Amino acid sequence: MKILFVASEVAPFAKTGGLADVTGSLPKELKRLGHDVRIFLPYYREVERSGVPVRKMRKAVEIPLGDEVHRGVLRQGSLGDIPVYLLENRAFFDRDGLYGTPAGDYPDNHRRFAFFCRGVLELLKRIDFRPDIIHCHDWQTALIPILLRYELASDLFFARTAAVYTIHNLAYQGLFPRETLAEMGLDPSYFTIERLEYYGKVNLMKGAILTADLVTTVSETYCREILAAEQGCGLEGVLQCRKDDLFGILNGLDYDEWAPATDQDIFKRYTSTSLAGKAANKKGLQRLLGLEERADLPLVGMVSRLVAQKGFDLVTELLPRLAAEDLQLVVLGTGDGAYARLFEDARERGARNISLTTGFDPSLSRKVYAGSDIFLMPSHFEPCGLGQLIAFRYGAVPVVRKTGGLADTVTDSRKSQAANGFTFEPYDADALWESLQRAISAWRDRESWKRLMRRGMAMDFSWHRSAEKYLELYRRGVAKKEA
Ligand code: ADP
Ligand code: GLC
Repeated sequence: MKILFVASEVAPFAKTGGLADVTGSLPKELKRLGHDVRIFLPYYREVERSGVPVRKMRKAVEIPLGDEVHRGVLRQGSLGDIPVYLLENRAFFDRDGLYGTPAGDYPDNHRRFAFFCRGVLELLKRIDFRPDIIHCHDWQTALIPILLRYELASDLFFARTAAVYTIHNLAYQGLFPRETLAEMGLDPSYFTIERLEYYGKVNLMKGAILTADLVTTVSETYCREILAAEQGCGLEGVLQCRKDDLFGILNGLDYDEWAPATDQDIFKRYTSTSLAGKAANKKGLQRLLGLEERADLPLVGMVSRLVAQKGFDLVTELLPRLAAEDLQLVVLGTGDGAYARLFEDARERGARNISLTTGFDPSLSRKVYAGSDIFLMPSHFEPCGLGQLIAFRYGAVPVVRKTGGLADTVTDSRKSQAANGFTFEPYDADALWESLQRAISAWRDRESWKRLMRRGMAMDFSWHRSAEKYLELYRRGVAKKEA
């Protein structure tokens, strides 16, 4: 099968979160299974900085958007033996962040990603790659299924191309004012309830859900949750319309990329049978962050965007209790200044056992996974979550809220022989505190804790199973086109 991935981030080219992990690893597994897989992403400043080699191709496109015409140049790199195409336009993508700066999103994001989507479709013709499947991800690529359904409906080049659309996070829908339609090159006929109109605005994700041949999301539980109002973010009705074509497939993790046995960024390498290295990592992390070097305190780690989704309301509410407890809390986070300030306040009030590092730092993130006894992920909602999967791999036992993909991957120690972590259900600070306390008491029993760690380390969340599920869906997509 010929499969094209189109995404706004792909590791190691550009990454802000789990989306990049997925688009940087699932294609490799599909390729291993014998398919012709290729990837498209924007050529951001970050790609240039990443040092990943990317060469200029002699292909360019002119994309009209409203009154303007924007020129894009094709570049090419690779992910193993997978061709990775990058669309360059300095004005749109040679900027500091992928989607914005700490002050907020870029006001022309609709234009940037409309340019990208239109550019991808145009360039496919120039390079003569006619995919059986275009697999699009999140709102930034939502325009592709929309254009295939309407503007390009009678374009023979795409007659046999099925669009699969994956929702990684329903909280980011690509909502823009009505005036932006024209700036994306769309005529007023798109502003109807059957297409993109949503309470007086343009909603790109809604459009993709309605037009893609198949829609997926990244865990089975989240797939069920988003069909109801509580997690549906206002799109539950739209999703209900596509219920028969909506599937939940759990994300996998790149087990070559995330492996404490070979990780060059951690202090000492280890495996589930040689756990001594884990202690060296804890000590190294404590020293690096200026924490007391104490083996007798449980080290609780978090690697996360500092946003409400990830449960930071609960964590910051608990800061006084955490500061008084015999533990250490290490947080590596990007994002919201308000949460960061609450951590700083706690430090100023004398909480020497709490450390916050702000910024996006892949190398430090690995040290946190390797140095933590417990990995905390009290998310308010979580489509899948890769943090807990990485934590398992590094022998950090997860404490999570039972929601979305966290519910599908973490089993509480109270409940089963197969327990691999600790969960709580109500979204409140006391419930989180109670499960953290249970984890800490379990940690004090060294032998049974080791068994718990090893059970997590032995779990298989590699792409193996999920890649097969995607292939099954792709085949369904192809069959729909042939029908
Ligand atoms: P989300 O995609 O919602 O942010 P996930 O758990 O799916 O959450 O994926 C987060 C990914 O981003 C993981 O690979 C995690 O290690 C990484 N990550 C998050 N914050 C940081 C950070 N500040 N520095 C480095 N890596 C980070
Ligand atoms: C989103 C979700 C996260 C998921 C990731 C990759 O960012 O918030 O739960 O793991 O996408 O699918």
